[in-house]
Amino acid sequence: MKVTVVGAGFYGSTTVQRIAEAGYADEVVMVDIIEGKPQGLALDLMECRSIEGFDTRIVGTNGYDETAGSDICVITAGLPRKPGMSRMDLLEVNAGIVREVTEKFVAQSPDAVIVVVSNPLDEMTMLTSLVSGFPHSRVMGQAGMLDTARFKHFVAEHFNVSPSVVDAVTLGSHGDTMVPVPSLVTVDGKPLTELADTAVIDELVQRTRDGGAEIVGYLKTGSAYYAPSSAAAKMVEAIATDSGEAMPVCAWLDGEYGISDVYLGVVAKLGAGGVSEVVELNLDDTEKAALTEAADAVKAKQADVRQFAEA
Ligand code: 2OP
Repeated sequence: MKVTVVGAGFYGSTTVQRIAEAGYADEVVMVDIIEGKPQGLALDLMECRSIEGFDTRIVGTNGYDETAGSDICVITAGLPRKPGMSRMDLLEVNAGIVREVTEKFVAQSPDAVIVVVSNPLDEMTMLTSLVSGFPHSRVMGQAGMLDTARFKHFVAEHFNVSPSVVDAVTLGSHGDTMVPVPSLVTVDGKPLTELADTAVIDELVQRTRDGGAEIVGYLKTGSAYYAPSSAAAKMVEAIATDSGEAMPVCAWLDGEYGISDVYLGVVAKLGAGGVSEVVELNLDDTEKAALTEAADAVKAKQADVRQFAEA
């Protein structure tokens, strides 16, 4: 099992660390344009092996020869937000970067499954799909796992319980039209809608929507990476181990929820071939309408992305 992670920033390097330490991959290749950075980080991570007890080889490189024959790729390349910026403000600059790395990666690994995490997420996933020419099942984005983890965290903190007893899910976009789904949230098996009033639920939903910006506001330079890399690594593990586990991801819709021809956050089963099935959840009418609204908003932006694929 060979995994490539493109981008050796905090998001990329912590993703490499999590995958390497989990131990299911034989080799993880970290690619970055900055000379010496991926090589240095790879050597540092390799030196953990006797302490942490894993055997994964970690290779750092500035080129793509070493990535040849990868089974899975995580694309983290691109700029993060600064305070006050929306993820959409990154569209033009990150489109150029994501297009270039996708072309270089797929030339060496035509059978891989790609997980995109670069922002704006839904649009960069669409771009990678167009540039790679891969079937939609083999290109997906990471957002729902992260947004769901944030939602669970905020609910757990509110009720002062362990996040392990909270069940929740977010759908829609990784942006303003994110759809956290209150009707499916439970705390210790009890529905959130019976435990909290609308004002509290609205507050938890809004904090989840703004979860990325809250951390950017603290950090000033750069965005979150611990929870994002946990989310990406969990998806990689499901694909690498062909687990069939269902999780919230950005996947191509072909009629599910009455929505087609768009990459959008939904729950899907992941395995060796990527997305094997989109799982349709029971949503209430408001949530259904919010998901359709998200699909329309993302579709409009994803249409803009075509120019970057063809340029
Ligand atoms: C976030 O929400 C990086 O978009 C990512 O933190």
